[in-house]
Amino acid sequence: MPIAIICSGGDCAGMNPAIKKFVDYAYEKKIQPYFIYDGLEGLIDNSIEPAIYEDVSGIIHDGGTMIRSSRSKRFFKHKYRKQAYENLKNNDIDKVIVLGGDGSFRAFEQFYKDFKIDFVGIPSTIDNDIFGTDYCLGVDTALNIIRKSIDEVRDTSASFKRACVVETMGRDCGYLALVSAITSGAEICIIPELEYDLDSLGKKLKKQLKNGRRYIVAVVAEGSKRTKMVVKWLENEIKIETRATILGHIQRGGNPTVFDRMMATEFVKNAMDKLITGQDIDLVVVYKNSKFDFVSIDYINSQKYMIKDSLLEMAENLAK
Ligand code: F6P
Repeated sequence: MPIAIICSGGDCAGMNPAIKKFVDYAYEKKIQPYFIYDGLEGLIDNSIEPAIYEDVSGIIHDGGTMIRSSRSKRFFKHKYRKQAYENLKNNDIDKVIVLGGDGSFRAFEQFYKDFKIDFVGIPSTIDNDIFGTDYCLGVDTALNIIRKSIDEVRDTSASFKRACVVETMGRDCGYLALVSAITSGAEICIIPELEYDLDSLGKKLKKQLKNGRRYIVAVVAEGSKRTKMVVKWLENEIKIETRATILGHIQRGGNPTVFDRMMATEFVKNAMDKLITGQDIDLVVVYKNSKFDFVSIDYINSQKYMIKDSLLEMAENLAK
């Protein structure tokens, strides 16, 4: 019973430890593991190869994904999905582990409807924006990269009595910015999920600056599209020299943290056990209330991910 693994969409730290566990566990269970290289594009173009132990030696600490990834427009068309299916069939593969985000799961949901290719999705995105799971692979590493960057930018801001505006990734979701603002002791947090009030924020900050505050840290989520506005406001209204740092893709790389390596291992083991023992599977393995569980792809795609109110409340005073 061969099983293949694919990475699709934005990569994240933790994918390589997941790939290593996949190969090691497959051999333990006497299953032939396959790599689908280059994401859905590679699936269409038949970049499918058997995996051996040597492929995954020395990769556990590497960021990114050794089998690479892609965002595919072609996969939306039935004729390319059919081609992808033929490629799997020619290798006798009818089970796939998918590391990706909700867009990738949606693509595999359609693939399952078309050709009954069993799959288990593993939520893998630094955005942490997948409904039904509390955690997505790569988030802890991204948060630690942001934490380190804010610590560093704070040093130079304090030396100059400046404000720094740090923009984090997350697409439409403010999770990375929110957690980073709370854990970095930021003065300002602007995310799509929280209403902000510049008048009241401004009054607080001016008072603090008068009382000796030496710097201001503002964390802004890319999804809020407010980075430039916050820089201008700090300069013009708060009258503090301001610099912006857009962290960008550095948040997607880096050596996976211990937590992400453990999560990768457990996500993959759960996904493999499900695929080995079951059939007619179109599921996503989720981590909810500190437990691993499986939910249907319909359930994952049925609702939009919302950040918990209790977490949002912790940053309300950084937006008002
Ligand atoms: O979904 C992951 C993510 O890094 C988002 O945070 C970001 O908006 C987007 O991907 C960037 O995409 P790309 O790598 O295609 O520029």
